[in-house]
Amino acid sequence: MKAHPARNPLIARKPRLDFKVEDVVWADNPEVAMIWNGSSTILPVLEPWLNRVLVRCRKQLGPEHEQLKREIDDFVRQESNHYRMHAVYNETCEKAGYRFPEEMQQACDDDYRNLLNTKSLEWLAAYCAGFENFSLYQARFTYEAAPDLLREGNSLAEMMMWHMAEEFEHRSVCHDVFAVVSGNYFLRVYGLLYSFWHLNKHMNQRISMFLEKFCEGMTPAQRKASIKSARRYFRRYLVWSLPRMAKILIPFYDPSKAPAHPRLQRALARYEGMTVAA
Ligand SMILES: [Fe+2]
Ligand SMILES: [Fe+2]
Repeated sequence: MKAHPARNPLIARKPRLDFKVEDVVWADNPEVAMIWNGSSTILPVLEPWLNRVLVRCRKQLGPEHEQLKREIDDFVRQESNHYRMHAVYNETCEKAGYRFPEEMQQACDDDYRNLLNTKSLEWLAAYCAGFENFSLYQARFTYEAAPDLLREGNSLAEMMMWHMAEEFEHRSVCHDVFAVVSGNYFLRVYGLLYSFWHLNKHMNQRISMFLEKFCEGMTPAQRKASIKSARRYFRRYLVWSLPRMAKILIPFYDPSKAPAHPRLQRALARYEGMTVAA
């Protein structure tokens, strides 16, 4: 394994955000807000799980990987801030009537715990690398192609902007960890495809529930328009991201080479400025 390239340390920001129930429908297109709000409910399960896997991987790294170990520590700090804030975000959605049932959340948690207990470290690292590699395109889509979603002043939109910006920033950590614990190209591709399928299975359940709740009380015509609006957003996202994501399949793919859009750089500085002193 070649030496890990020197990089700027990751900053664990924690912007002061005062979540307000009136901010729950935070996008011009309300179905987009429901899609993101539904997705948010998985993060207090998924992100602690990613941290657990990386902490396990860290134990396998020798003294020649000190920098990567520091990056893992920073990654864990960033993800910990994300899932704690998402728990508050989700409570805000609950106050507005959008709730993912506790028993279904428990089933999802059990599913992830089962992976942790039954899969090899290499397999788990491949899942994390796959997930982080396709999440990078969600972050890039937001900052490069969807400036309409960047709503400064709306607490829930700001949470998503902060989260996406830091997902971009720590884009290489899981990929690099996988390269050390395995590096097998075919396992990396399998991890990408499996995590994409597995995560979307869990996400779709949540998103459908939130969109369905949003449609309550609508006339058939309004409901039809709402479904169309949600589909339009998915199409917009997939048309932008899928052709670009194909790059991940290149054997020497390197996520660190992804360009940081000026809007994204400004957001990182903004959320650093809004960070609450520890
Ligand atoms: Fe995160
Ligand atoms: Fe992440």
